[in-house]
Amino acid sequence: MCGIVGYIGEGQAAPIILDGLAKLEYRGYDSAGIAVYDGEQIRIKKSVGRLKILVELTHNGEMLPGNLGIGHTRWATHGAPTDVNSHPHYNAKETIAVVHNGIIENYIKLRNKMESKGYKFVSDTDTEVLAHLLDYYYKGNPLEAITKVMHRVEGSYALGVVFAEHPDRIFAVRKASPLIVGQNSEGCFIASDVPAILKYTRTVYFMENQEVACLQKNKLTFYSADEEVLHKEPVTIEWDAQAAEKGGYEHYMLKEMYEQPKVLEETLRKCISHGDIRIDELKMSESDFRSINKIYIVACGSSYHAGVTGKYVIENIARVSVEVDLASEFRYRNPIIDDKSLVIVISQSGETADSLAAMADMRAKGIKVTGIVNVVGSSIARDADYIMYTWAGPEIAVATTKAYSAQLMALYLFAMKLGKAKGTIDSEVFSGMLEDLKLLPQQVEFLLSNRSKIQKFANRYIGAKSIFFIGRGIDYAISLEGSLKLKEISYIHSEAYAAGELKHGTISLIEEGTLVACVATQEHLYKKTISNMVEVKARGAFVLAVTNEGNYDMEKEADYVIYIPKTNPYFANTLAIIPLQLFGYYVAVGKGCDVDKPRNLAKSVTVE
Ligand code: AGP
Repeated sequence: MCGIVGYIGEGQAAPIILDGLAKLEYRGYDSAGIAVYDGEQIRIKKSVGRLKILVELTHNGEMLPGNLGIGHTRWATHGAPTDVNSHPHYNAKETIAVVHNGIIENYIKLRNKMESKGYKFVSDTDTEVLAHLLDYYYKGNPLEAITKVMHRVEGSYALGVVFAEHPDRIFAVRKASPLIVGQNSEGCFIASDVPAILKYTRTVYFMENQEVACLQKNKLTFYSADEEVLHKEPVTIEWDAQAAEKGGYEHYMLKEMYEQPKVLEETLRKCISHGDIRIDELKMSESDFRSINKIYIVACGSSYHAGVTGKYVIENIARVSVEVDLASEFRYRNPIIDDKSLVIVISQSGETADSLAAMADMRAKGIKVTGIVNVVGSSIARDADYIMYTWAGPEIAVATTKAYSAQLMALYLFAMKLGKAKGTIDSEVFSGMLEDLKLLPQQVEFLLSNRSKIQKFANRYIGAKSIFFIGRGIDYAISLEGSLKLKEISYIHSEAYAAGELKHGTISLIEEGTLVACVATQEHLYKKTISNMVEVKARGAFVLAVTNEGNYDMEKEADYVIYIPKTNPYFANTLAIIPLQLFGYYVAVGKGCDVDKPRNLAKSVTVE
């Protein structure tokens, strides 16, 4: 996510802003910039790359004297990471500067409108449209201009805005993207998150959606989108700096698990409009979709597991054959692929060496490659023929959670769009599926809320030697991910098995008390899966079942049951993974492991 910091007060703004941006580096970014009013004009310095480049460029802010300013670290969503795409953005007269965190969904329409009025754009960002809109509506009253823009912009935004004609104030605006305001005896601050200003003040105001804040040296005023003055109570932050970076969570992994509802919501908000699925950046026409007769999904680790789910979902919804390969195998197996095939490379980082190499091999053979990637401007995103971004924001914990969930959502949307183009699902089924998708965020939220029950259960297994995860079909796909989550952060050996395959050897490993987690969300496979439960129980296993709400017969067979809310069976992995993520997390915490940075692992495996 992008980071915003602003300051107005007795002190020099630039050093405070740069220091605050440094505290937000954990959020991930690819460029940084700062705007300061120097007594005559707003001066902007910005650059792609690490924050230290900006610090050097401005001699730690000394080259930008002034008591009022805004700064930004950019996590690219629209427009690759470049100097010109970095924030802040100016209007043409350079009398208004704006920084933004979020996504302006109707920016193309607004940009066309502003260009038709003679406005010239210099960047590829959605944010720049805000600078020109503010210019268009500004007739001397900044608040009026801001509220007019708020009524015309769709999407999510946290904004910092400065007006050269009003150098005694900063404006902050919030809709969906978090933004806080801080105050101390010497001035006022805006920030995307608490860590940025904790050094200067523990007195903060959490802005609500559609609120505007006007910050003056020693005065704070809050307004509604209708310019009514609002009264807000300050909050005193008790956290220490390190806890603040994790939003009060003990680990980034837990924080990112809890961001999953919002990530799913953002993805749906971005891709569903007027009852249809829009994946603009995919740039694939309906006939492109119709011409696909075979799909190869290529990935590593959890992205591979998402691909296994994708196989079941795409084949069942769109009736197109899907093969899923580990990238490290695919790149050397000389696959037989014709030009009617589509290769989908899934990668959170967009930098995984094996996935990159597999993609390069395919493109060299003239095969079109679609990337499903979380990092805008990453190597896979740049080199793919088509791109579908996941909107998970930067993921800090090595063990992926929210990015994986975003990949599943992307695959559901892709499968439904493909099925609609192929005519394998009618409009009624399509609409029903959209409704099911829209319920997923709150269902995930519900599952996360009963984490203490899972923590208690997990504590019983911190000494386990080996834990198995089994399932059939889509439930096998999620068993793969549940097993990886556990072993990569708790260092306990674990295997995922197709439930029907266990008796072909591995069942010999089941001993008295061995935990077998059995995922059973696919009603048509319940009976088969239960027979596999009985097999392992007969050999002494303790069976944890993850199954659908209402399937209470499971309590006759399993020793411990976790229920997930009912959803479309194709989307069940999004819910079943939540208790499995929490289980792996709490086993690792119970063992005192370094959850966010597990031994031997890197967030992005950029070597073979
Ligand atoms: C998942 O928790 C691991 N961090 C790892 O398996 C990861 O999914 C894999 O390395 C692929 O990374 P990518 O999605 O960035 O390509």
